[in-house]
Amino acid sequence: MLTTRQMKLIVNMPKAENHIHIEGSIPWDLALELGRKNGVKLPADTVEGLRQWVEGILKADGLNGFMLCDRTINSVCITKEDYEAVVLALAKDARRQNVVYQELHLDYPLNEERGIPMEVVMEGYRSAQKKAKEQYGVEIVYIAGLDRTLSPEQCERFVKNLEGYRDMVDGLGMDCEEKGHPCIKHQGSYRLAEDMGLFLTAHAGEDDGAYNIWDAIQTLHVSRIDHGCQSIHEPELLKYLKEHEILCAMCPTSNIWTGAARNYEEHPAVTMMRAGVPVSISSDDPPYMVDLVQEYAIALDEMHFTEDELIRTARNAFAYSIKGQKYLEQFDAWVEAFKKNEA
Ligand code: ADE
Ligand code: ZN
Repeated sequence: MLTTRQMKLIVNMPKAENHIHIEGSIPWDLALELGRKNGVKLPADTVEGLRQWVEGILKADGLNGFMLCDRTINSVCITKEDYEAVVLALAKDARRQNVVYQELHLDYPLNEERGIPMEVVMEGYRSAQKKAKEQYGVEIVYIAGLDRTLSPEQCERFVKNLEGYRDMVDGLGMDCEEKGHPCIKHQGSYRLAEDMGLFLTAHAGEDDGAYNIWDAIQTLHVSRIDHGCQSIHEPELLKYLKEHEILCAMCPTSNIWTGAARNYEEHPAVTMMRAGVPVSISSDDPPYMVDLVQEYAIALDEMHFTEDELIRTARNAFAYSIKGQKYLEQFDAWVEAFKKNEA
């Protein structure tokens, strides 16, 4: 059980989030509404029904099962207005949680596989980025996500097409089913993105081994790892992550649902932090998991983070972000006032 002081801390602290996927974060009531509007039938017609459907699949099939659910629910989005509505719903929720800066993975390939033109998706996301700031005061920074299961040629084509969207996209990431799709497969895409000046990150060591984290660092030249749970098994890798200040953007509840961690008690985040690795906490795909405030609550309540350790992870989310360092002064002042007033 959290104390009132801890609740005030996690709710009111200005927060940043480094790792959340638009396509995996469509609120399910909105997904049902868009499905009805667009004539797309989902496996259930209530939020509770979707929850039961998802839980069965995640329990049976971990990350691969999650991706099946992600692809299915995302299939309700068809028009520019749909894509805009999803990001605005995320921004509204960010505002509710005092998240002032959010790095959103836009996994366009999950839309391309259904024949949706890139400009439809990107223009929806572009107008939402602007409105999120105007209407909710939330700064959204986009990280374009490769679907690692696609061929190197398909991914390279996607990166080249990002040239037309450099004003709205700041980073390149890579996600989807990890096993059988090592980072090295997409070296070509990362070289192109590096030449374009994009910030580089990749999902690695989520449900595949630590070797894939080394690959992401050495062959893709990433400056961040999404998840990175498996680094816990390699002291040399932990040392490298610490010395090179490579942030692991971890998502504890997602890691449990996808089988990357057994439970909160054994989740590697706190051990990695204590080994000096920069760690931040995010929600990944909140409707399937929990939101950021709940993740912070779980870190304190079930993962054995001390208050100062939680504040450090929250600070890391700004300090190691793509463009969010400008909020650090406000963050530090808020924490100082909190400690003084709540002492
Ligand atoms: N896409 C959305 N969430 C993901 C995750 N946890 N791992 C890989 N790809 C994803
Ligand atoms: Zn992710």
